[in-house]
Amino acid sequence: MHLQNTLYVALSSASLATAAYTLQDSCIGSSFQNCFDFYSGADPTNGFVRYQNQTEALAQGLYQVSGNNVYLNVDSKNAAPNGRASLRLESKKMYNRGLFILDVMHMPASTCGSWPSFWSFGPEKTWPANGEIDIIEGIHDSTRNAMSLHTSDGCTITGTGSTGTVKTKNCYINAAGQTSNAGCGVDDKSASSFGTPLNPKFGGIYAMQWTSTGIKIWFFPRDSIPYNMYGNNPDPSLWGTPSANFAGSGCDFNKHFINHKLVIDTTFCGDWGNAVWASNPVCSKKAATCNEYVANNPSAFAESYWRINYLKVFKE
Ligand SMILES: *[C@@H]1O[C@H](CO)[C@@H](O)[C@H](O)[C@H]1NC(C)=O
Repeated sequence: MHLQNTLYVALSSASLATAAYTLQDSCIGSSFQNCFDFYSGADPTNGFVRYQNQTEALAQGLYQVSGNNVYLNVDSKNAAPNGRASLRLESKKMYNRGLFILDVMHMPASTCGSWPSFWSFGPEKTWPANGEIDIIEGIHDSTRNAMSLHTSDGCTITGTGSTGTVKTKNCYINAAGQTSNAGCGVDDKSASSFGTPLNPKFGGIYAMQWTSTGIKIWFFPRDSIPYNMYGNNPDPSLWGTPSANFAGSGCDFNKHFINHKLVIDTTFCGDWGNAVWASNPVCSKKAATCNEYVANNPSAFAESYWRINYLKVFKE
């Protein structure tokens, strides 16, 4: 009896230590599109974009697979008076909690007019009743990743435990004293965590860990990715302090984040891009409005593509 108990304890603690996460979905190469739908409706963020369906995406070469890499391109050849052709992929599955790892070789460059992002949201209720998690996001010529959560009322974070700069702590989109729709936000500490600076060095890995008690985001450029992040047994406890740590007793994460689809897209201008065009010293010199610049300068968007190694989703 005593011996059996001892063995049981030893075995169970060993398995706890090694099997924290198991692979649920692997989206890579030719199987990547099995994970996603091509959204082709109007941009809910009011971007100057025409999202293409799967047939058009393939016909126009906007979606390409080369070996294990997937390219999500935008039209960089044609003037686009009615909005630039681009892609918005939404995961077929919805998720509750888990570990989400996106390995990118290239991401849309820091280009005036562009607004690329990798994010998730709960589409079943009026936004943001089921929450939004922005894992990779930035606008225009920014080179610093802006991570944020958007919720209904009643979700605040402490802001501790992030290496990044905490900008706002109330995740409610209409919180008093914060810009409308800001939510809670953390900027990466690295000024090379978004867009152009990633690309000559073959990108890197962004990871998001979503649990009942919080949401953490890490970014590692290609030359400093922890070995443990690759492969099918990732262990976030080995990755150090996250770039952003959204946590604290001021938010019930199970209540505010429900049934999330993952989204990878590149839109243009829109609510955020238009709002900060005139105040951007670089972009505002290029054209009177963001839409005008995007419409008339196709070649400016030749580097506005995602080249993705894989997206992997792990279950706790
Ligand atoms: C895809 O988009 C094209 C161009 O708008 C349209 O003609 C076509 O019917 C669409 N295909 C599907 C399957 O929705």
